[in-house]
Amino acid sequence: MRSFIVPILMVLVSAVPADADPAAGKKIAKQKCQVCHGIDGIAKIPIAPHLAGESQIYLETQLKAFRNGKREHEMMTVVAKDLKDNEITSLAQWYNSIQITATVPE
Ligand code: HEC
Repeated sequence: MRSFIVPILMVLVSAVPADADPAAGKKIAKQKCQVCHGIDGIAKIPIAPHLAGESQIYLETQLKAFRNGKREHEMMTVVAKDLKDNEITSLAQWYNSIQITATVPE
């Protein structure tokens, strides 16, 4: 089993751009995302989703879908169109790194 997992992990790791990191994502988020999604990933406008704690793979997939036109939205299509791969990874790492808790009603 381990001999199977290690090569997969290596592929996943090598797919992460070398110059991506959550601190860089935080900086970009302050400039480009904060007004709608919050710097803490809690949405500031009712039509925007919360991003805090969302999985990195999901965030990256959605940002790339907005960038390449597979997913369309009047706001996000504009926001995502000029993002580079390392910026997308950094943003996904930033929003994924935020710790959230959920309180379920009685
Ligand atoms: C002007 C407001 C606005 C800005 C700025 C903005 N977004 Fe969004 N974002 C939205 C809205 C609205 C949606 C919901 C799109 C839909 O309904 O399909 C969304 C959706 C998303 C989604 C999909 C989430 C999901 O649950 O499917 C991601 C990921 C995302 N935004 C990331 C970002 C990032 C990262 C930035 C900064 C680079 C950013 N957004 C900037 C308004 C914004």
